[in-house]
Amino acid sequence: MEQYVIKGGNPLVGDVEIAGAKNAALPVFAAAAMTDETVYIDNIPDVRDMDVMLEAMASTGVTVKRVNRHKVLINAGNIHNLTVEHEGCKKIRGSYYLLGAFLGKYKQAEVVLPGGCDIGSRAVDQHIKGFRALGAEVIIEHGLIKARAERLRGSHIYMDKVSVGATINVMMAATMAEGLTIIENCAKEPHVVDVANFLNSCGANIKGAGTDVIRIRGVERLHGTEYAIIPDQIEAGTFMFAAAVTKGDVTVKNVIPKHLESVTAKLLEIGCEVEEADDCIRVVAAKPLAHTQVRTLPYPGFPTDMQPQMTVALALAKGTSIVTESVFENRFKYVDELVRMGGDVKVEGGDTAIIDGVEKYTGASITVPDLRGGAALVIAALAAEGCSIVDNIKYIQRGYEDFHIKLQNLGAQIEMVETDKDVQKFRLKVG
Ligand code: UD1
Repeated sequence: MEQYVIKGGNPLVGDVEIAGAKNAALPVFAAAAMTDETVYIDNIPDVRDMDVMLEAMASTGVTVKRVNRHKVLINAGNIHNLTVEHEGCKKIRGSYYLLGAFLGKYKQAEVVLPGGCDIGSRAVDQHIKGFRALGAEVIIEHGLIKARAERLRGSHIYMDKVSVGATINVMMAATMAEGLTIIENCAKEPHVVDVANFLNSCGANIKGAGTDVIRIRGVERLHGTEYAIIPDQIEAGTFMFAAAVTKGDVTVKNVIPKHLESVTAKLLEIGCEVEEADDCIRVVAAKPLAHTQVRTLPYPGFPTDMQPQMTVALALAKGTSIVTESVFENRFKYVDELVRMGGDVKVEGGDTAIIDGVEKYTGASITVPDLRGGAALVIAALAAEGCSIVDNIKYIQRGYEDFHIKLQNLGAQIEMVETDKDVQKFRLKVG
């Protein structure tokens, strides 16, 4: 089984190229199945979730061809199956976007209930509410969400909860509904905007993505396009925090600084220097880190996907910090592992971490509990005294392209290994 071995202590220094956003690419793939014409999607990250989604789509008859590592051709002209039961879909979240896409285009879809990281209950009631408002019948049966409609008609939908997934799914279905759909209390994440831009480039009529209210005038058909996915703000934020935690100097390149404002604000607050240019951000951590308070919120608030990385930084900051998780109920699983590395963090009421900063982490054997928690633990290990062995890295590979290689290029002592012998070799090498 693959593991990372890490010898901590080196400040990360240098430039890192950020890949395309996983959470934008997944729904854009699904949306590409809404036209019979060929679509080229560029700047996709080479991570496991992409493979699972594309395999799931291929199982329905969609033609998927890798043009190169970061570009894919999708042609959905020959779909023969509107039931998506691909085994891998139980492990990823994005597979549920095929519901909105197929329902919009074919007025019928059956998709296995999605998985993804175990970070809370992850309900789908708002997706179902939106599909029903458009005129679909929706049931959950034998582990599948089944949606079907004679016709989809535009509707006025108020989301009771701000949800990225529900906003995108309902927006996709409404793209090919008759008449006007207005979705209120929408998620405003950059990837919601990216999916709307993609659909508009295929001939859709979507206005307001990125605000609270999205207006969609249904169209009868969509056409082919070429589209490049936006940069991944969570990958970028992870490297920005890696600079802070290892007292480094890292420039993240190929980013949209506007998408990272809340992350930048918190890094400044804890004492880092942050310099922005057109498409890159430099983070320098020259001073000891200062304590602060953070609450995760939907965009443009501080992202829940950056909460573990923030906690790992604050656990090395002078004084007491408080991190409140307000998006998911169960997103502090990684804290047990951080405590094994010497972190002084207590989780109260499931949603609040009370953090008393310590001078240093110490290397340990740790197990990754989920994608972002895993990335945060790797950062902690990079700052720790001594060696760490990180298990269960398949979670990290779901969302970070070449994570250990990018870290090596910044001066980290990290390797991906498979056997105990490899671990021994690494220990001998790093001394
Ligand atoms: C997406 C991201 C995930 C990120 C999250 C929040 C993908 C593949 N995943 O997940 O990385 O952490 O956005 O930015 O893009 N909710 C309901 N009912 C619903 C839908 C959601 O109650 O019908 C709740 C969820 O349980 C959660 C909150 O709303 O508490 C936010 O969830 P949502 O924004 O939908 O997250 P995902 O789309 O699952």
